[in-house]
Amino acid sequence: MSFPTIRMRRYRKNKTLRALFEETRLSAADFILPLFVDETAKTPQDIASMPGVKRHTFASLLREASAAHRLGIQGVLLFGIPKSKDPWAKQGHARNGVIQRAVRFLKKEVPTLAVITDVCACEYTSHGHCGILKGKEVANDPTLGLLSKIAVSHAEAGADMVAPSDMMDGRIGALRRALDKGGFQDIPILSYAAKFSSSFYGPFRDAADSTPVFGDRKTYQMPASNVREALREIELDLEEGADAVMVKPALTALDVITKAKLKFPVPLWAYHVSGEYAMVKAAAKLGWLDEKAAMREALLAIKRAGADRIITYWAKEAARGLGRR
Ligand code: PBG
Repeated sequence: MSFPTIRMRRYRKNKTLRALFEETRLSAADFILPLFVDETAKTPQDIASMPGVKRHTFASLLREASAAHRLGIQGVLLFGIPKSKDPWAKQGHARNGVIQRAVRFLKKEVPTLAVITDVCACEYTSHGHCGILKGKEVANDPTLGLLSKIAVSHAEAGADMVAPSDMMDGRIGALRRALDKGGFQDIPILSYAAKFSSSFYGPFRDAADSTPVFGDRKTYQMPASNVREALREIELDLEEGADAVMVKPALTALDVITKAKLKFPVPLWAYHVSGEYAMVKAAAKLGWLDEKAAMREALLAIKRAGADRIITYWAKEAARGLGRR
């Protein structure tokens, strides 16, 4: 059977019918809000390349997290800007480090909001790389102990889940062993499993002050050209004990999301990264596209591709604007 019996436009006749036939729907619980907390800030700091996003003080972090939770957002992902950096990322696992303090504070004030912490060294190292250096190389195995200490310190502070984003080999297994040994058998690990080396992280590095002082991250993050390798990264992380896996960035890796969804029966998250947000913001500012419509389209595409949850700087706006078409 086909035209004229079949008319696809019947589905689209008006707003009401379009709503009836929607296959993919967004809800506030789909989104996780990334937040930056800066222990040196006296007031919330704007980030030029990420309009609407701030480096928070502890007080403004709480306000922002609570506002997100009231809109139905169930989780935040925390990044810290420490008061000092060194080659070994000591502040990354300090008991009174910026993240450890922020987690204790948020869990006390908003206990039902899930606090997820990014586990990485790049915000804490003076050289800006995601691990310990040996000469000009990021040394894999010596970094595993550092990451484990960071993860355990976050769990001790009360984090609900830890999310390693460094892309060292073997870090999921190392973190699992360290967490279990510390008595944190029940803390899940969200692995940034398929994390591509991406120019779309640029604005984040302004926000987190984590641009490497030399070189790039291409010896640990994945090349955009490879999808089988991405699936293998996910598979290995699951074997090592990851509870949930992430694909990052989102819009440039929709194929990876779909393939991972079909292949692995595990929670699959996507990170809609800073540059994906910034380019829409910039174009909207110039009047070149409609921000709300572009945001909605991008989030729908990520969910349609197969993401169970989306980490996005638009979490609040999206949760707020869901009724609108
Ligand atoms: C830390 C980390 C980065 C992002 C999340 N965790 C930056 C990087 O790998 O350089 C990027 C997030 C974004 O761009 O929004 N390793």
